[in-house]
Amino acid sequence: MNDEQGRGPRFAILPISHVDLDVVVAISRDGGVPWTRHQFLEELERAWSRIDVVKLGGTGDVLAFVCYWLVADEVHVLNLATAEEERRRGHATRLLEHVARGGRQRGAREVTLEVRRTNAPANALYRRLGYRLVGVRPAYYVEDREDALLLKLDL
Ligand SMILES: CC(C)(COP(=O)(O)OP(=O)(O)OC[C@H]1O[C@@H](n2cnc3c(N)ncnc32)[C@H](O)[C@@H]1OP(=O)(O)O)[C@@H](O)C(=O)NCCC(=O)NCCS
Repeated sequence: MNDEQGRGPRFAILPISHVDLDVVVAISRDGGVPWTRHQFLEELERAWSRIDVVKLGGTGDVLAFVCYWLVADEVHVLNLATAEEERRRGHATRLLEHVARGGRQRGAREVTLEVRRTNAPANALYRRLGYRLVGVRPAYYVEDREDALLLKLDL
């Protein structure tokens, strides 16, 4: 993507590096899906897990992240969040399109994810990108027993 003056890439999507971890943990905490640093590190150890970030060109500030698994012919999104002050600027869309593109290239046939029933912004985002409801997991979230909606995008 180019900036308004066409001066080259304004955002880059890159694999997370260790120096990004603190910011990603903070974005996750502020987004209400508070994974610990340890949880992110565990994902980095798994051969089938990826964490990618949106970085601002120039400064390299991390604006958003996604964590997903590539398993057999399925991509499963585990965590996704955009820094509060950066929301509604297309970063989550960018990340999900990147995940779908990568999945397609590896021969995956679908992207799946769970989302809280009451998470209106996330539900709006996923529906807009073509995800459809394929199931409900009752009381999936142990903290408050909220249902998870299982959404799927065919690739
Ligand atoms: C959900 C979330 C990741 C969206 O990130 P984002 O970078 O703001 O998303 P985008 O800018 O790509 O939004 C794309 C579209 O999704 C929908 N959308 C996103 N946020 C919305 C909101 N608050 N209300 C209504 N629709 C929303 C809109 O259709 C939006 O397009 P528009 O801005 O042109 O209207 C972000 O709100 C977030 O980090 N929330 C906290 C963590 C979270 O809930 N993660 C998902 C866990 S399943």
